[in-house]
Amino acid sequence: MALVLVVDDVRTLADQYAYDLRRIGGHDARVATSGQAALETLAREPVDCVILDLEMPGMDGFEVLRRMKKDGLEIPVIVYTGTGDFDRCAQAIKLGATSFIDKAESMERVAREVESAIERARLEIEVTTLRRDLGGESALVGSSAAMRELAARIARVAAIPSPVLIVGESGTGKELVAREIHRLGAGARTPFVAINSAALPENLIESELFGHEAGAFTGASRTHRGAFERASGGTLFLDEIGELPAAAQAKLLRVLEEGEVTRLGAERSTKVNARVVAATHRDLEADVEGSRFRRDLYFRLNVHMVRVPPLREHRSDVPELANALLSTTCARFGVRRKRLDRDALDALLAYDWHRNNVRELRNVIERMVLATDGATIGAGEVPVEIRSSGAPRPTANGGTFRERRAEAEREIVARALEETEWNIQRAAKNLGLADHASLLKIMRRLGLKRRAD
Ligand SMILES: Nc1ncnc2c1ncn2[C@@H]1O[C@H](COP(=O)(O)OP(=O)(O)OP(=O)(O)O)[C@@H](O)[C@H]1O
Ligand SMILES: [Mg+2]
Repeated sequence: MALVLVVDDVRTLADQYAYDLRRIGGHDARVATSGQAALETLAREPVDCVILDLEMPGMDGFEVLRRMKKDGLEIPVIVYTGTGDFDRCAQAIKLGATSFIDKAESMERVAREVESAIERARLEIEVTTLRRDLGGESALVGSSAAMRELAARIARVAAIPSPVLIVGESGTGKELVAREIHRLGAGARTPFVAINSAALPENLIESELFGHEAGAFTGASRTHRGAFERASGGTLFLDEIGELPAAAQAKLLRVLEEGEVTRLGAERSTKVNARVVAATHRDLEADVEGSRFRRDLYFRLNVHMVRVPPLREHRSDVPELANALLSTTCARFGVRRKRLDRDALDALLAYDWHRNNVRELRNVIERMVLATDGATIGAGEVPVEIRSSGAPRPTANGGTFRERRAEAEREIVARALEETEWNIQRAAKNLGLADHASLLKIMRRLGLKRRAD
């Protein structure tokens, strides 16, 4: 059963529609007799479809459509008109209305129109999600300087077939980055095989990676192709590479050097051409110093390094990320699309996400979606630990003075660039620098690239 909102300044007409929709369509229906009242209901209740009169005194239907768009309310709207003026209907469609009907239309027809509008909205969300999953477009959300820089780096390394090492704190999106390198490199139609060294028992890692012949060890009843072979022509993603046991590290190095694997128990080797993308949240360099990770393997892997920034270094992406996560979460839970009000968003923006970065944001969004009945998530639904620790704090795992200073500098420069839409001259002036050359020099030092466009 769907909830339909009928908006018409003539109360008797609206009531009749609501009554018929309940009777014929089996829907739940609400009535609003002004544009303002309609917007209030939309903010409060999980409406699935709106039937909107275009001609109303005060705020008319067009203005309601504009406001809905501005508030990010993606609810199907059927406009209706008694004047038979189709130019006005066409104009309403341009403003985001789904379809239009004539007031003279039979109620059965109106009910069918409501069904199909709701179904279409549901399918749209599904298609967007599927398209993303199929690798049609980048799943990485964010347009801050830091994310644009990351995208540029990904594009550069994707074109090169050598190994890539992705580093970054937990939950920053390393796996998404690996998939993006795959999509732009080997291509979405080739295999992407992921192996998580931390999740596999030590005695299985080698056979998972390199495969085994039947009878290679007790329990090996059949020949098994390892991840390297399965990923042939595509990408092998080695997650949590820092957890790889020493023996497997030695074998991995050999495979990378020779371009062939030997299954456990096999006599001959097989050529493999999978591109290796490894990821870690650990400080591999420290692991090398502490002899927990092979230096030669580290050098093989880190020729092309991609650093994924923690969320606190690109907080300006929080609104965009929250919005995208809301869409997918609501679709996944099968609930109506919800949105965040200003106060809730402010609370999310003030937090530093030091525990788990984007994954932490995703978990918070999921909790808030479950805790909110209506269409709007308010500050009251923001978990208290997020609300009460709003003030920026030093990073959880510290970082050296030098690293933290560089972070702060990047944030200052990135913000100045954002504010001037990457006009170097103006940004330099706003920052009180001598000239644009000084800013370019600082950007080079901080690894901030000029925007290509
Ligand atoms: N830029 C982004 N845009 C959209 N979603 C993101 C982004 N970054 C991370 N996510 C989402 O956050 C979650 C965590 O991302 P992911 O698993 O890639 O992180 P990770 O760095 O591999 O974490 P871990 O170190 O814990 O394995 C996922 O649900 C992912 O889809
Ligand atoms: Mg991961």
